[in-house]
Amino acid sequence: TVERTKTFVLFGATGDLAKRMLFPSLYNLSCEGSLPDGFRVIGSGRTAMETAEFHDKVIEALKPTDLYDEAKARKFADAIEYYALDTDKPEEFAGLKTMIGDAEKDGISYYLSTPPSVFAPVVAGLEAAGLTGPHTRIAMEKPIGHDLESSREVNAAVGHAFPEDQVFRVDHYLGKETVQNLIVMRFGNALFEPVWNSRHIEHVQITVAETVGLEGRVSYYDGVGALADMVQNHMLQLLALVAMEPPARYDATSVRDEKVKVLRALRPLDSSTAASNSVRGQYGSGAIDGQPVKSYAEELGKPSNTETFVAVKAFVDNWRWQGVPFYLRTGKRMPAKVSEIAIQFRQVPHSIFTPKRGSLLPNTMVVGLQPDESIRIAMMVKQPGLDRGGIELDEVSLDVSLAAEFDKSRRRVAYERLLLDLIEGDNTLFVRRDEIEAAWMWIDSIHRAWEASNLPARTYTSGTWGPGAAQGMIERDGASWRD
Ligand code: BG6
Repeated sequence: TVERTKTFVLFGATGDLAKRMLFPSLYNLSCEGSLPDGFRVIGSGRTAMETAEFHDKVIEALKPTDLYDEAKARKFADAIEYYALDTDKPEEFAGLKTMIGDAEKDGISYYLSTPPSVFAPVVAGLEAAGLTGPHTRIAMEKPIGHDLESSREVNAAVGHAFPEDQVFRVDHYLGKETVQNLIVMRFGNALFEPVWNSRHIEHVQITVAETVGLEGRVSYYDGVGALADMVQNHMLQLLALVAMEPPARYDATSVRDEKVKVLRALRPLDSSTAASNSVRGQYGSGAIDGQPVKSYAEELGKPSNTETFVAVKAFVDNWRWQGVPFYLRTGKRMPAKVSEIAIQFRQVPHSIFTPKRGSLLPNTMVVGLQPDESIRIAMMVKQPGLDRGGIELDEVSLDVSLAAEFDKSRRRVAYERLLLDLIEGDNTLFVRRDEIEAAWMWIDSIHRAWEASNLPARTYTSGTWGPGAAQGMIERDGASWRD
């Protein structure tokens, strides 16, 4: 197989992701000279459009990027070819084949930034037109199915034409710098691994909070909900990276072998644990940054039982993590956009202090993904002073701000890294079939448990941290969310 694919075919080229992420990322990579010589981009969409009109759309998409330069952007956009295609009509793939010519020998990466209903028809169309083969790769956006069974069907349809090592399932969280840094932090330092287990860690909290609401994604989001939209993919990937055993090598097989073991070790929920170990919520009206916002049902235009918030207490049933809760929480219309992983260590076994002020707090390590990329360790120190009548304790932060430390590096969007890895054929940061299926297996257990126990989506006020029951869930264990 070729090392670097020279042709890039984007399905869904007139869509939102192409505009916000994919074209800007390809443009940035081209400005930096990271793409192969003679790199060719073909955009495909359902809409018939003059190529010039398409080029103008691409230019508009490039304007917000840091590296925008009018002449360079024009040159980049004008080189993109456009092919209108109705994916339901296999005969239309013949025209694509004519456009692509004999480029297959130099490698092609296909990127499906389309609704999932189109995945199987595109793969069938490519196969029928003779556009698949050992030098081709395919990348897919989520969702890959909506449960285990449907994800298996999608994987089988794609697998028919593309062997697993040519399949790149995108989880854009894996392209984020701090997520990769989590691997380096854990396995590039001798300090943490000895304490990375249930003897020393009391619990783990993973929060992905957003301020946005439905964002006009009505047709996709309703009926899907936060558990499938955020937990099944992004949050379980974060959990797997926190919990996995040390891989023997940093390569696609070793890393993904370890992640899938964690996903398979997740303890299923059932109707007896659903109500105590999970909370569903849906945003009501409220305010974000002082601006009034509508409720989910108002945005949707009808009542719905879809959750826009979910909190789950998860357990990884293996030796390392026995008894350690992993509290996951994600929601829309929260007070702030924050993604972070907090590792809560256990209290010291015995305190020798009788503090005059302050109290002995257990250490916390927080890996921040958004808004700042950071690693912070909260630890105890003594306040300066003579300490007559008892020591004064204080908690301070050992703080690695990655943005400040590497202030000369441009902050990249996750997709730059992922697109380049696809073009270069490295699928370490993409999700393997068995991972997706193990994740769905656990998510299915929760969906089933919710259904069996009729767990309602409780209304929470927009601009708050979700339903009170989510606080109750963690506080019953003597812990609390980091707000
Ligand atoms: C997407 C979800 O995968 O991730 C969206 O479908 C969500 O609902 C988005 O808003 C969040 O991504 P990020 O990178 O902004 O945290």
